Amino acid sequence: MTDLQTPYYLIDLAKLRVNMERIAHLRALSGAKCLLALKCFATWGAFDFMRPFMDGTTSSSLYELRLGHEEFGGETHAYSVAWADNEIDEALGYADKIIFNSLGQLDRFGTKAKARGIKMGLRLNPRFSTSGFDLADPARPFSRLGEWDLARLESALDRISGVMIHYNCENGDFDLFDAQLSRIEAEFGSFLEKLDWVSLGGGIHFTGEGYPLEKLAARLKAFQQKFGVQLFLEPGEASITKSASLEVSVLDIIHNGKDVAIVDSSIEAHMLDLLIYRETAKLPQDGAHAYQVAGKTCLAGDIFGEGRFAAPLQVGDRISIADAAGYTMVKKNWFNGVAMPAIAIKDEDGTVRETRRFTYDDYKASLS
Ligand SMILES: Cc1ncc(COP(=O)(O)O)c(C=O)c1O
Repeated sequence: MTDLQTPYYLIDLAKLRVNMERIAHLRALSGAKCLLALKCFATWGAFDFMRPFMDGTTSSSLYELRLGHEEFGGETHAYSVAWADNEIDEALGYADKIIFNSLGQLDRFGTKAKARGIKMGLRLNPRFSTSGFDLADPARPFSRLGEWDLARLESALDRISGVMIHYNCENGDFDLFDAQLSRIEAEFGSFLEKLDWVSLGGGIHFTGEGYPLEKLAARLKAFQQKFGVQLFLEPGEASITKSASLEVSVLDIIHNGKDVAIVDSSIEAHMLDLLIYRETAKLPQDGAHAYQVAGKTCLAGDIFGEGRFAAPLQVGDRISIADAAGYTMVKKNWFNGVAMPAIAIKDEDGTVRETRRFTYDDYKASLS
């Protein structure tokens, strides 16, 4: 505990190191390269720590691309569902590779990329995924995410040197990964062997406890040898899982048939991803005293979830909400004008330093 004013996100570097070392181990064993997916985690104050363990970044927009180029360095992949005319020149200035989502975008911007000597790729949609949630399923019906027709993909071979195939989603099951990669090999192998590189995207939860990292490494290595390609992975969640928390304080306790603790934060504003996917926050679960922990916005459903505590909660008590890094800080917003959580980093010696505090001026500057 520190005396920093809540709310704040706290990135714990000792915990982050566990993920980073697993990533470095996978890279060393397999020869695959790992790029941080900035859509998941873009808190650049942690990049100095992460940089030695990863090869670079991948992006989903011009701004993420620029951030990766400026703050992380290394290999910088540029992907966007659609580049705009007014973005492409700047994007090419930051990118080592540019991955177009469609043949149409390749046709439109490929000549510019070629003139700048930037390697090009296409997104390949294998038309299956591990996602059970249609909102996040890249293979959902009528998906706009990538090309799947082999003839169309082959027609780009004179311009592209690789493809990005993102089809895993929170997949911690190696056998499922293995089976689906075999399906990709069977369906697209004749095309893949004509390429120099393949990115398998993100969504493989290989930094999780008990994941068979050696098996994954061997599988990736075999794939690279079979097709003569350099593999890339784009871990987002796997890079930062379990390495950050949202620290909040109790502002009020209400008894409405249930004991409700209202805290100085908001799931809608500060952990929005959970609300979108109808998940509850990871709250303390040890103790005899049960509370619903709720946010301070006017949204009726601004509820983090149910927690259990060793003693009855009092106004001023601190609560630590776990797993607050992935798709969390990147989605924070100013709903209700609620104070945005500061960002703090806990160094490996236990020192906590605040790296960013947001003020009224930031709120005001986000509108006009
Ligand atoms: C193209 C691409 N790469 C990487 C990722 C990162 O996925 P994850 O955070 O599940 O590892 C995503 C997530 O949506 C993605 O769309």
